[in-house]
Amino acid sequence: MQYLNTQSTTYNDTVVRQFSIMAVVWGVVGMLVGVIIAAQLVWPELNLGLPWTSFGRLRPLHTNAVIFAFGGSTLFATSYYVVQRTCHVSLFCNKLASFTFWGWQAVIVAAAISLPLGYTTGKEYAELEWPIDILIALVWVAYAVVFFGTIGTRKVKHIYVANWFFGAFILAVALLHIVNSAEVPVSFMKSYSAYAGVQDAMVQWWYGHNAVGFFLTAGFLGIMYYFVPKQAERPVYSYSLSIVHFWALIFTYMWAGPHHLHYTALPDWTQSLGMIFSLILLAPSWGGMINGMMTMSGAWHKLRTDPILRFMIVSLSFYGMSTFEGPMMAIKTVNSLSHYTDWTIGHVHSGALGWVGLVSMGSLYYMVPRLFGQKQMHSMKAIELHFWLATIGIVLYISSLWISGVMEGLMWRAINADGTLTYTFVESVKAKHPYYLIRLLGGTLYLSGMIIMLWNVLKTATSGKPALASIPSVAAQA
Ligand code: HEM
Ligand code: HEM
Repeated sequence: MQYLNTQSTTYNDTVVRQFSIMAVVWGVVGMLVGVIIAAQLVWPELNLGLPWTSFGRLRPLHTNAVIFAFGGSTLFATSYYVVQRTCHVSLFCNKLASFTFWGWQAVIVAAAISLPLGYTTGKEYAELEWPIDILIALVWVAYAVVFFGTIGTRKVKHIYVANWFFGAFILAVALLHIVNSAEVPVSFMKSYSAYAGVQDAMVQWWYGHNAVGFFLTAGFLGIMYYFVPKQAERPVYSYSLSIVHFWALIFTYMWAGPHHLHYTALPDWTQSLGMIFSLILLAPSWGGMINGMMTMSGAWHKLRTDPILRFMIVSLSFYGMSTFEGPMMAIKTVNSLSHYTDWTIGHVHSGALGWVGLVSMGSLYYMVPRLFGQKQMHSMKAIELHFWLATIGIVLYISSLWISGVMEGLMWRAINADGTLTYTFVESVKAKHPYYLIRLLGGTLYLSGMIIMLWNVLKTATSGKPALASIPSVAAQA
């Protein structure tokens, strides 16, 4: 690796600190709403008979809060932290960086108000109405300027692979958001999609799947490529593999969207194309997972004593698991069983809780003490406890939904000798009840871990010395 300048650099960590704290706060809020809707599925009376607290309105509040508020704030924090340290420069344009923080928080608050009030475009993961969409686009362009501006002014010739993943995530999300949110406003908070019929569905799931591929995957792989080597104190297993991983992953993801629309009015060949690209996607996904795991070579013993590293490595196992399961579910015949069932929800949460959640927590635990001038987190025991609560929570969550999903899929297709259905729909709903209770328990455990994390982070941020405005440091080596 070649350095053009090795002088010490002062970083802008104010915005990193702000995003890190808010990531944890929004994590608690989003997961709390998740637990509430999980409870509503067990006891529907908890809808309270009010429109604002009904499942249909709280569900998008949950998905927006966990993906964009918790996941998004984590991605802003980690990408700003990593890009400065691997480029040996401070962020490009501090004012714009600050705008991304306040702008993103404004988007989240607008979502938290408008979704329970019932304002929605009806497009999953893109529910927010047009004025909020415009704000998102502005914040995102500012984010791109700050990130790529920092890369452009770097003092290190090489661009570390984590930045490639962050960069792809930022560009792809801009493209996805702008194309999928093309809409015709008819009043202040109501718009209609610019696309119609099957084209609208196709664009929506091109967006939806790539939101998974770029928001929930590429960005978090950027996190993996920086924080796993740092915490393990080992170099990345194979730099060449990371480059192959990058290009293969970003090329393949873009084509897999139609697997969300099997057996619909979408032309059959597009469904088959989506299926094939989903199967191919297994290879780059596992290449990346193996690269992360093998970075542990020579450091496996650290897992015994280091709960932060454990968060990261277990997250990689869940990444491997969900990216094996996804391609299987994309096979048309398998999808004919899994689609519309809880199996999908189980798959989502093995990726979301296992991969996205755990790798976020691990990287935040790595950054927070460094950002607040502390040697380590306030309580390592609390991190240990958090790890076990989260892991047991995930296992309960996903295994109960696998059982309930496959069960309901089989019940729906069971047919008597005379051709009539063996079960009524309501019988399948009743049969799922115990599994929903187990999911609720798993979700509650996961949420309690997050609340412990919030306490630990706030204690670390406020204990002893006041927070430093910025940390002068000899830039860390990538
Ligand atoms: C305490 C933790 C959590 C609980 C209890 C929880 C619970 C739920 C529930 C009950 C649903 C609705 C399922 C249905 O409609 O049948 C849901 C949907 C969803 N959740 Fe969570 N969740 C949690 C954490 C997360 C996290 C951390 C993420 C992402 C990072 C996430 C992403 C999603 C997504 C994407 C959906 C929509 C799935 C789909 O439409 O197929 N959840 N969650
Ligand atoms: C190789 C990688 C993956 C493939 C091929 C894949 C494939 C699939 C398939 C076939 C479905 C079901 C579509 C349906 O029947 O409606 C699905 C749903 C979903 N997957 Fe994956 N998956 C992958 C990885 C992941 C990961 C890592 C995450 C999360 C971090 C994730 C999040 C989701 C979400 C949120 C949905 C539900 C979308 C919805 O209907 O609202 N997937 N995926």
